[in-house]
Amino acid sequence: MFKRLREDIATIRERDPAARSAWEVLTCYPGLHALVLHRFAHACWLAKRRWLARYVSQIARFLTGIEIHPGATIGRRVFIDHGMGVVIGETAEVGDDCTIYQGVTLGGTSLTRGAKRHPTLGPGVIVGAGAKVLGGFTVGAGAKIGSNAVVVKPVPEGATAVGNPARVVAPAKTAPVQVKPASAREGFCAYGITPNADDPVSLAIHGLIDHAATQTQRVDAIVVALERLGARLEALHGADAALAELRRLSEGLECGGPQAEASSREDEKAPARV
Ligand SMILES: CC(C)(COP(=O)(O)OP(=O)(O)OC[C@H]1O[C@@H](n2cnc3c(N)ncnc32)[C@H](O)[C@@H]1OP(=O)(O)O)[C@@H](O)C(=O)NCCC(=O)NCCS
Repeated sequence: MFKRLREDIATIRERDPAARSAWEVLTCYPGLHALVLHRFAHACWLAKRRWLARYVSQIARFLTGIEIHPGATIGRRVFIDHGMGVVIGETAEVGDDCTIYQGVTLGGTSLTRGAKRHPTLGPGVIVGAGAKVLGGFTVGAGAKIGSNAVVVKPVPEGATAVGNPARVVAPAKTAPVQVKPASAREGFCAYGITPNADDPVSLAIHGLIDHAATQTQRVDAIVVALERLGARLEALHGADAALAELRRLSEGLECGGPQAEASSREDEKAPARV
């Protein structure tokens, strides 16, 4: 219990520039109080003490302004900042390392009892102040929901959704989103803002990184194609050797294509590797 509490305090100190000391966090952060009380309420809920669970949840709401249904599943290192007006429904699931600001609703649109009515937030999701996420769908890992957005459809991993109804403004990355544990302060964008998003130097560096990634993919594709043609690329060392191997291949192609080249190599029994 104290380990979790220490982890929660550390999370808040990392993610809120306004947090100055552990004591301040322990005494002045309603998001922390709500989560501690929710853990107790959730344990009561799982133990089938349903009334007690709801009652604890209502006390927590009275004290913090944050209403978390005791049936909701909340991950580790979740940070509810400010918190007033946050409502998290019964079948909602909040992944590890999520950040939720004041006025957020993780709500339902269906009245079917026992169904999954509330959203699931993947790890590392940031939900801006006043946003409403309504329905039993998933918001992918690392996604950002703009303040006051009304989200009624799934949001892909790493995407940014804004507006009412929410639309994706920054699409998901092609590579799977790596959600870093919140221990690294630099891994977290306070308020979901992309740091240096408009800085031309930062944009140029990101352009170069993207370009390098594309080139790497193309080189990989070329290597695969060359290996299909019979190149022994594991034996290549340096540009001269690569050039020699390419010459050998092109000579092989001129003398009757890859098959001929491959069979002549088999005939040699001891292929001249470069
Ligand atoms: C949505 C958000 C995460 C986007 O941050 P970002 O990645 O830096 O993206 P940008 O600021 O470049 O915005 C991208 C586009 O979305 C628009 N946008 C940003 N936030 C928006 C919002 N809440 N509602 C509607 N549109 C929004 C921008 O105008 C921009 O549009 P454009 O491309 O047509 O100019 C951020 O604006 C946000 O709302 N964070 C939550 C902050 C919060 O709740 N703070 C509470 C502190 S107490």
